Amino acid sequence: MDSNKRPDTMERITTPELAEAFIAEQVAAVREQVGDKKVLLALSGGVDSSVVAALLIKAIGKQLVCVHVNHGLMRKGESEQVIEVFKNQLDANLIYIDATDRFLDKLAGVAAPETKRKIIGGEFVRVFEEEARKLEGISFLAQGTIYPDILESDGVKAHHNVGGLPEDMQFEGLVEPVKLLFKDEVRVVGKALGLPASMVDRQPFPGPGLGVRCLGAITRDRLHALRESDAILREEFDNAGLTGKVWQFFTVVPDFTSTGVKDGKRLDYWPVIIRAVNTVDAMACTVPEIDWAVLQKITNRILSEVDGVCRVCYDMSPKPIATIEWE
Ligand code: XMP
Repeated sequence: MDSNKRPDTMERITTPELAEAFIAEQVAAVREQVGDKKVLLALSGGVDSSVVAALLIKAIGKQLVCVHVNHGLMRKGESEQVIEVFKNQLDANLIYIDATDRFLDKLAGVAAPETKRKIIGGEFVRVFEEEARKLEGISFLAQGTIYPDILESDGVKAHHNVGGLPEDMQFEGLVEPVKLLFKDEVRVVGKALGLPASMVDRQPFPGPGLGVRCLGAITRDRLHALRESDAILREEFDNAGLTGKVWQFFTVVPDFTSTGVKDGKRLDYWPVIIRAVNTVDAMACTVPEIDWAVLQKITNRILSEVDGVCRVCYDMSPKPIATIEWE
């Protein structure tokens, strides 16, 4: 039987009970596969790798070694949440690498989006590989592969996600406990494993993170403005009950300035663009109508709380012709 093919008879995991049964089955299968050997996992904090981590912690505890690489392009509070949930609450064997300087130094002056993606993906593999080489006796590599990754392995995700696995590293085998599941099933399993909703119901976040939202050549000051404005947007969408109703939303900071005025002085400040979209499959999207008062509150907060910003715009463009991300 092709282990990468979902059997027609496999029931869709839609309830906590079905999730519990799946977890029990996978816990047994993982124990059987790895015995007393060690397993390595790149834990990004995204839904898939987080669910795999929680499942493997349940199955093999400290035999799982998680490596979380902070590439400096995470959203505000994301790496902190990974540490809080996995190290503090689940007592995981977690190695945290703050590689911010390394990534930002490599990206300095690089403006072309696909080059930025390649640098981020490539550097990620190198950092992960360096850490893996320092560890002794790792036999297996775990991955958060899900069924759409298998179905679309030539498709959108492969096109976007440059990088991937350390190719020349030898492992006895791969551990991919959720590879036959669809995203909604992974979320149900994650909840049954006790992961917080903010982690499990997270909107999609591109591998290169804020790197493709800080347009052109990334600078630390604009990256800071991007991270802070994004955090305000998320907080206010949450307050307005929009999280979960809008498929993906984020801010973008372009690489040009616009004229602002403060204390009678004209200043060159950045615009911040709000992007919010609804879609089924990310191939086409529409732009939701957001309540004026919500947009006004977000605008006022960004203008008063984020340094170097003088203007907030709402992107009204559907896909096609505009892609969801700005680059
Ligand atoms: P676009 O911008 O192509 O985005 O309309 C469609 C979906 O893909 C996400 N996206 C990425 N995801 N690596 C990823 O893992 C990437 O380089 C990347 N670029 C875009 C985007 O956030 C949206 O959900």
